[in-house]
Amino acid sequence: MNHTGRLISFEGGDGCGKSTQLTLTADWLREQGRDVLETRQPGATALGREIRTLLLSGEFVPVPECELLLFLADRVQHVKAVIQPALNQGKWVLCDRYSDSTLAYQLAARGLAEGTDLKPMLAFAEAGCVPQQTFWLDVPAVLALQRVRTRSKMGEESTRLDEEALSFHERVHAAFVTICQQCPERVVRLDATKDIAVIQQQIQGALV
Ligand code: TYD
Repeated sequence: MNHTGRLISFEGGDGCGKSTQLTLTADWLREQGRDVLETRQPGATALGREIRTLLLSGEFVPVPECELLLFLADRVQHVKAVIQPALNQGKWVLCDRYSDSTLAYQLAARGLAEGTDLKPMLAFAEAGCVPQQTFWLDVPAVLALQRVRTRSKMGEESTRLDEEALSFHERVHAAFVTICQQCPERVVRLDATKDIAVIQQQIQGALV
């Protein structure tokens, strides 16, 4: 792969606080003189924003297979149009969610991987851009759901997937546990019930 930058993903169940940590990490890396791109999936390109609406607005309820393909379509557009060029320019790309989310939500929680090896499709959509490091903000599903519901009562947008049952979010969580066990060299588990500042220190410690 011809790039000099770094791709770092932030993962976790809904309401785990990863977006806050991503922003704090970006600020800190900039203080270190790094050129940083903050981005997210789904919805970081013009085409991706349309896909995000199709996926998450609640207006449509795609079948699980269609849901998977739409997330992958968003990803490959984002990788080729945004992430790969940024890496080629030496940027540190911090991405809010990446393929581990697809593994956890679509392949595991939706049960799409049963009997079929879909991982080659995930690799196809990554188009060679694999995160060097992933921060997984681990929060129990029940607590994550509480946070999401509180936020939505306070008027923040909640998505179609936020509305899934607790059992769905528990399957997502179990999948992240497995991913973390299978990729210990890449995935750093962070206890998301801890203080924001404590978590941020752990992230900075892992990046030096
Ligand atoms: P978003 O509003 O970006 O919230 P957050 O990341 O803070 O939870 O919602 C994105 C939703 O899409 C989230 O519920 C996880 C889901 N998702 C998947 O199911 N598969 C994927 O591949 C990705 C990238 C996201």
